[in-house]
Amino acid sequence: MKTRKLGNQGLEVSELGLGCMGMSFGYGTPADENQMVKLIHEAIDLGVTFFDTAEVYGPYANEELVGKALTPFKGRVAIATKFGFDLSKKGTSGLDSRPASIRSAVEGSLKRLQIDKIDLLYQHRVDPNVPIEDVAGTVKGLISEGKVAHFGLSEAGVQTIRRAHAIQPLTALQSEYSLWWREPEPEIFPTLEELGIGFVPFSPLGKGFLTGKITANTQFEASDFRNAVPRFSEENRSANQGILELLDQLADLHKATPAQIALAWVLDQKPWIVPIPGTTKSHRLKENLEAAKLELTKSDLEKINLEFSKISVKGERYPESSQKMIDR
Ligand SMILES: NC(=O)c1ccc[n+]([C@@H]2O[C@H](COP(=O)([O-])OP(=O)(O)OC[C@H]3O[C@@H](n4cnc5c(N)ncnc54)[C@H](OP(=O)(O)O)[C@@H]3O)[C@@H](O)[C@H]2O)c1
Repeated sequence: MKTRKLGNQGLEVSELGLGCMGMSFGYGTPADENQMVKLIHEAIDLGVTFFDTAEVYGPYANEELVGKALTPFKGRVAIATKFGFDLSKKGTSGLDSRPASIRSAVEGSLKRLQIDKIDLLYQHRVDPNVPIEDVAGTVKGLISEGKVAHFGLSEAGVQTIRRAHAIQPLTALQSEYSLWWREPEPEIFPTLEELGIGFVPFSPLGKGFLTGKITANTQFEASDFRNAVPRFSEENRSANQGILELLDQLADLHKATPAQIALAWVLDQKPWIVPIPGTTKSHRLKENLEAAKLELTKSDLEKINLEFSKISVKGERYPESSQKMIDR
């Protein structure tokens, strides 16, 4: 698989990474750990060198899984993890990016991941109670101590990105981006381009919706967080089916799948974008990685832009409680 550069500090990774969250967290019952270790090894065999996890996924279980799977590949792959949630509160309901908390999160992540240095450390959500300069300064210290190689933010707004970057150059911003969430395009992308910061889109498959495998009749497990996401209400899933018609048409044209079209489109937007689709299934991993070989034409891209400009996607992408934590 080809590689792409993230930021200007020397991080180069496979053009598609692997999002590991869903293996342990968020999408219902965690998958079998041994199977997921195998899946991660399969991803390496297929050329993936970039793996995404976070302290809060589990909490801890996902970092432990990723650490176990990637130990034999130390130095040959890049692991990205995240700090910033108060884990004494349930799930992702509280934030904590105080310097001492960042330091203790990093010590825990290093242990669970079984590494001496985190390749890319993101603040998971901007904490309104801690100036971003203090966060960036703390990560800068961790970089100079050799515990962290690169710094990133997630779901941060333009001003926060600029302020953080002035203290410690950012390697990547990780925020949601896909055919049904293009909000980063007008302001975030020009800022990243100007500052030389890479972009790592999360949920590039629209949390599964853009693959066409989710319909209004799909029943999610009780612990699947999509039950609380307005965009995934039965009514909105039904209202948003129109998006899939276009993806189906393009998939037929290219002898590809809707998931591959969705990923190829993200890859085509900028050369400094590295999407991290997640899956727990071997056949889907292969399917998703094949998207890197798919070439959408200029006319495909124009058609997508035109057709999507006519569609208004129904439903917020996060529940109200999480909504206030994004774009700060
Ligand atoms: N920074 C943040 O705040 C944040 C937030 C969310 C996610 N993330 C990161 O981004 C990664 C990816 O995001 P995501 O997992 O939310 O969303 P995603 O990659 O858009 O979609 C994942 C979902 O799609 C399904 N899927 C994957 N490939 C498929 C295919 N080819 N056909 C049909 N279904 C398919 C998966 O189910 P199966 O497992 O059944 O295949 C899973 O339910 C996560 O793993 C995590 O590391 C970060």
